[in-house]
Amino acid sequence: MTVISKNIDLAAKILQANEVIAIPTETVYGLAANIYNEKAVKKIYSLKNRPHSNPLIVHVSAINKVEELVTSFPEKAKQLAKAFWPGPLTLILPKSPKVPNWITADKQHVAIRIPKHKTTLELLKKITFPLAAPSANPFMRISPTTAKHCCNYFNDKIELILDGGACEKGIESTIVSFHDAYPTILRLGSISIEEIKDVVGETVIHNNTAKEPVAPGMYSKHYSPKTNLVLVEEITPALINTLKDEKIAALTFNKAIKHQKIIKCLRLTKTSDLKEAAKNLYSFLHQLDNINADIILAEKVPFSGIGITINDRLLRASHQ
Ligand code: TXA
Ligand code: MG
Repeated sequence: MTVISKNIDLAAKILQANEVIAIPTETVYGLAANIYNEKAVKKIYSLKNRPHSNPLIVHVSAINKVEELVTSFPEKAKQLAKAFWPGPLTLILPKSPKVPNWITADKQHVAIRIPKHKTTLELLKKITFPLAAPSANPFMRISPTTAKHCCNYFNDKIELILDGGACEKGIESTIVSFHDAYPTILRLGSISIEEIKDVVGETVIHNNTAKEPVAPGMYSKHYSPKTNLVLVEEITPALINTLKDEKIAALTFNKAIKHQKIIKCLRLTKTSDLKEAAKNLYSFLHQLDNINADIILAEKVPFSGIGITINDRLLRASHQ
């Protein structure tokens, strides 16, 4: 049986033995292992059923540890690091030979971040190696934001889930690369586009809907519940009446909807607070996916700030 525990020393011990555990971060939980141990890293891939062409993010506790793993650190990357680390920012930087190819899927760049979670920062300080950690969900499924979500996916398959409570942000880190003239956002995330632009000025948003995306993990279909999810502008009685489905789960931004066919309606926020909506998003999708509804109807949220990221995730969750 998988142990759910707050014991950081135990977590460090298991990682030192080159095993995989789940760890909390401020964004989502990760499946973590020593970046230098090929077997442990391969186990992450097999647990997630993740294609080997899809590289992993390296997690460290301090900026000097980042510097050891890269061959250059562009000025704009430094500005973002200063503004947002520790925090939900992942930088794509040229990798030093120290970074094994099994982390970067043979790419010459490595994705790195310093997470902002007390437990995991403490853990990272106790061990002598960085941690590779993709989100702790099977390939294409909804990311976990509680220890319980991790347990639902990986019970008996990993020794330990380090419990750090519910993730504060609830959506993955924002990924930025610097290969081009302007910083490029490869994955929308917990830090909004405006917040990135406020620090580094002109920024390109990569259109990651292609079949072979630049950040190889950004498939059009991703973050999916098992229940068919349909994304709409607004859930109305007229729309509900057109559906053959009898048991409907509804996910709205802020309004409560009542209808005889709606078996459960969850509001992402009651106060139109986009940060609260982001924090609740995956957790509510997990809930609605577990009530045997015929369909999940989800409403788009306002297209500003972190709302743009929420809509991106809902769109990927709805992709057929
Ligand atoms: O918030 C997060 O970033 C979470 C927590 C656990 O830190 N981690 C996470 O990892 O979301 P993952 O593996 O689920 O998503 C990482 C994304 C993937 O789309 C991957 O393709 C991309 O980052 N990526 C990793 N290394 C890359 C690289 N060298 N170049 C381009 N994209 C990269
Ligand atoms: Mg992921």
